[in-house]
Amino acid sequence: MSGTHTTTPVRIRVGSGAPGDPAGPDAYDVVVGHDLLGELPGLLPGARRVLVVCSAGRPAAGEQVLARLADAGFAVHLAAVPDAEDAKTAQVAASCWALLGQAGFTRSDAVVGVGGGAVTDLAGFVAATWLRGVRVVQLPTTLLAMVDAAVGGKTGINTAEGKNLVGSFHPPVGVLADLVTLATLPRRDLVAGLAEVTKAGFIADPRILELVEGDTAAATAWDSAVLRELVERAIAVKARVVTEDLKESSLREILNYGHTFAHAVEQVEHYRWRHGDAVSVGMIYAAELGRLAGITPAGLVERHRAVAASLGQPVTYPAGRWDDLLAALRRDKKTRGDLLRFVVLADVGRPVRLEGPDPELLVEAYRRVSD
Ligand SMILES: NC(=O)c1ccc[n+]([C@@H]2O[C@H](COP(=O)([O-])OP(=O)(O)OC[C@H]3O[C@@H](n4cnc5c(N)ncnc54)[C@H](O)[C@@H]3O)[C@@H](O)[C@H]2O)c1
Repeated sequence: MSGTHTTTPVRIRVGSGAPGDPAGPDAYDVVVGHDLLGELPGLLPGARRVLVVCSAGRPAAGEQVLARLADAGFAVHLAAVPDAEDAKTAQVAASCWALLGQAGFTRSDAVVGVGGGAVTDLAGFVAATWLRGVRVVQLPTTLLAMVDAAVGGKTGINTAEGKNLVGSFHPPVGVLADLVTLATLPRRDLVAGLAEVTKAGFIADPRILELVEGDTAAATAWDSAVLRELVERAIAVKARVVTEDLKESSLREILNYGHTFAHAVEQVEHYRWRHGDAVSVGMIYAAELGRLAGITPAGLVERHRAVAASLGQPVTYPAGRWDDLLAALRRDKKTRGDLLRFVVLADVGRPVRLEGPDPELLVEAYRRVSD
């Protein structure tokens, strides 16, 4: 369905207090809607210089943003960075710092990230580290970045030793989730991003699951009202969780539902699997593990499979890779001490922590998700 472009943007507050309020200095709005660039200049009061970080492979996205900022009177600079994970390196961050230094960026200037989660992670990291922190606005252009990477303030880059090992918490001053940008996103990426949306449904918002189950075609159409509501609801779940737990101590852990196994799959596959695809199988793994531990009802496990299959997401992972997967699980940075930690569900919206499950259950859950 199209024709949703004229609807009013929805604003979802992350953090407490009004933006700029000293009681809630980390508060910001995630705006969801269409053609939102007009909102950008207003998010950067007092800035003179703006560095726009975007992927060199998708120059049009960055140029539009540059033009809008230049029209509004900012001195604009462009960092066109390598695509996807190749952007998240210390070398690329250093090239951005060089641009900031050469252009004389001060504390009151700002960075804008335009792209998928790789670009928003890099832009956030550059902003977090320049002069110990300048403002960043995120303009996510993938579904995954809209509902996850650009929201919550986690920023980071990779090192030779692993993904996201260097980074910092640095909340943006605003996020503009412009659904029009999804028009060019390949379907495979949209479907993968929906795994983070259904995750939000399983851990906190049953309506998300009902919407997907009610109209799968609309859920996978970038310009449908259903997808828009899914995006809003998924962001609202993340916003609620990170507002209560800005630094990932305990509540924020629920956002990792499906991610323990997913991170292991990503490592074993050398990141050739899309994150969302790994999360899809990871949630089914967590559901099976929860069932084996006597926590998750059997019907809910099957609901995971049905939702993922209806969206065209993977529901299995190849057999015969347990040793590699277990080694990867043990390396996960969210492991504390020697205990493997999982989030499992007692029901939709009722996440429970499962720490140090019996190794036999871990293998059996793998058997149940492998083909
Ligand atoms: N900070 C966080 O909390 C957080 C959370 C989840 C994921 N992440 C990070 O996000 C990254 C993954 O993000 P992603 O899935 O967006 O992948 P990505 O940023 O690698 O983008 C995927 C591909 O889509 C292209 N692309 C982006 N927007 C497009 C558009 N509108 N149309 C067509 N192509 C487009 C990109 O150029 C890239 O080739 C990972 O690095 C992950 O670590 C961070």
